[in-house]
Amino acid sequence: MNTYQSYRNLPALAGICSMSEAMKPGLSIEECVRRLKRYHYAFKRLHQIFIARLTAEPIYELKMGFSLHAHLCAEQVSAVRRRIGEMREPPLGLDIVPDAKLEIFFDEILAAPTTEELVLGIYEKALPALKAGLERHGNDTNPLADQPSLRVCRFAQLEVDDMLKFGYQVVGQLVHHALRERTRTWSSLLDDCLAAAGGLDGTQVPVCVNIVRRHSATPYTYDGRPKRDERFPDPYNMGVNAECFLYDAKFPAEPKTLMMFYKRLREVDVPEMMASIITETIDKPWEYYRDMTRQLWDEARHAMMGEVGLANLGIDWPRNVMVNFTWSLALNTQLKPIERHAVLYFIEQGLMPRNGKRFEWEVGLASHNPLSALFQDYDWADEVLHARIGRDWYLKDFDDPRKAVQYGDQCWSRVLMDWGKWREEGLTAHRNWWPDVYRQFCQNQGIEPDPDVLAYSTTYAEVRADLKTISTSA
Ligand SMILES: [Fe+2]
Ligand SMILES: [Fe+2]
Repeated sequence: MNTYQSYRNLPALAGICSMSEAMKPGLSIEECVRRLKRYHYAFKRLHQIFIARLTAEPIYELKMGFSLHAHLCAEQVSAVRRRIGEMREPPLGLDIVPDAKLEIFFDEILAAPTTEELVLGIYEKALPALKAGLERHGNDTNPLADQPSLRVCRFAQLEVDDMLKFGYQVVGQLVHHALRERTRTWSSLLDDCLAAAGGLDGTQVPVCVNIVRRHSATPYTYDGRPKRDERFPDPYNMGVNAECFLYDAKFPAEPKTLMMFYKRLREVDVPEMMASIITETIDKPWEYYRDMTRQLWDEARHAMMGEVGLANLGIDWPRNVMVNFTWSLALNTQLKPIERHAVLYFIEQGLMPRNGKRFEWEVGLASHNPLSALFQDYDWADEVLHARIGRDWYLKDFDDPRKAVQYGDQCWSRVLMDWGKWREEGLTAHRNWWPDVYRQFCQNQGIEPDPDVLAYSTTYAEVRADLKTISTSA
């Protein structure tokens, strides 16, 4: 065999491996599928954990990171599922838990009582174990016979590495020595679960160890109330109506761009709300969760576009821009998941006509802020995708599309945004923060404030974000 030569020394075997590598015994289909099902389970549970924990996670950077990582895990779930479906595997059995100890492992992380323990469990235990499994698959399998799985594993590894890079930094900043000491027993429990499962991929000899649930001893309960870190000091503030300003023809494009960056950053409430729909909606086909998570990630990107836009203009947003959570709080606590989806669909339908996303893009262009024009261009494209997701997963349950839109409007109208009560209870003064941020904007640009823009003081007390007049509840 050593004398085997390819034609004119060209790469043999399509360049995927050497002749001797292609001769190794590798993994049988049965063993390959057994391992793939474990990666599938791990990505699915991680997706669940990221989504379930992001709404009540106060730290904005983690909310954003969890949004991305949920999306990456969802995409990997889809890729691994597709591959398993190619391997003589009907019925796929993808809803079966591959190992009871792995189930406890992920249940424990899902129920971690603090942010620090949560990130420790995800980034220091689960993802490294998954990475080791994917690497081992690459080493163990026959690269010619199992090339399609190998390709799936290689792409998965790239994204697992991205998640780990973020996670190492997070753990480095948040988890200090004393906390490690305090959580040592729990950390050992996670290690024991993996050891008792024969590793995440089940390739090791299972260690016989007694596993006793701690944080998951009582079943995890979902917390859909949004929380924010200290850079969001006035989360009930509904004192500046962004939409009334944006659609008022008398105001110029430049301050409208500033207002749009606020509108984008405020979209942090969309992942907070969508996460609750995804978590509380069970028994949908997997593609539903994948599509909804993609949209959730887009909305997180939109929030970060706003953050970048404000930073680029030199605006101190935590001090001068009051980013509220009233919409996600109200929807998550007052509506059923399908009703929240209806509101989302209703809002997104309203964004497609002339006065929606195209208008925002045109404002970006007219304002001569290239970042705003760029971000709105992509925001518009994302919105077209979201309208498609809405049609696929919400609209198709209605026989009349108009009824689907009306239902969303009705659900939104039922939500009690208790503008006056929040003020009476001292939760907010609904302070008009607009003049301060506009002054800062003008100062940084070296321009004189426009008196009309400076005097803007329309709140959300009477007019909703879709410009609909609110009859009661103020
Ligand atoms: Fe958005
Ligand atoms: Fe959207």
